[in-house]
Amino acid sequence: MYTGLVHAHSGLRWLALVLLLAAVFVSISRWQGQKSFTDGNRKLYLFTLISVHLQLVLGLILYFISPKVNFDGLANRVIRFYTVEHITIMLLAITLITVGYSRSKRATSDTQKHRLVGIFYGIGLGLILVGIPWAFRGLGAGN
Ligand code: HEM
Repeated sequence: MYTGLVHAHSGLRWLALVLLLAAVFVSISRWQGQKSFTDGNRKLYLFTLISVHLQLVLGLILYFISPKVNFDGLANRVIRFYTVEHITIMLLAITLITVGYSRSKRATSDTQKHRLVGIFYGIGLGLILVGIPWAFRGLGAGN
């Protein structure tokens, strides 16, 4: 079960990244072009939110079962990354994306709806890119 979860959590990153890139691109171009807010836009922003929440659920389970999470091993760089850095950066990113979605939903003008998603999802995407244990960082992730 542990290995399956790590694979799912690792693979799902791509879905979340593709959706985030699409949502940020669409929202910023429609904000700048002062375009209308369509059903398709709402769906894209919602599926993006769901994909990062799915990562949150998988990540939380992993946090309790992973050997790479250990508060007694913080002197080790890899252990410290997963125990402290990865979870902190990702929780912040997912919180910002959630706030952006709900503020966009409540906003009254179409331009404002796109603007809020563009800003909050954009910052969230930047944080997620920083928080991913990419192979070149040598953090023991399978990639
Ligand atoms: C969008 C958000 C997230 C992305 C894109 C992401 C991505 C990843 C990736 C690529 C790995 C490496 C998997 C591998 O070894 O191949 C990983 C590992 C891990 N993630 Fe996340 N993560 C996210 C959010 C979270 C959150 C919120 C938590 C905790 C609550 C979390 C906990 C973990 C843990 C514990 C591991 C280590 C698993 C292991 O190898 O034992 N992740 N994550």
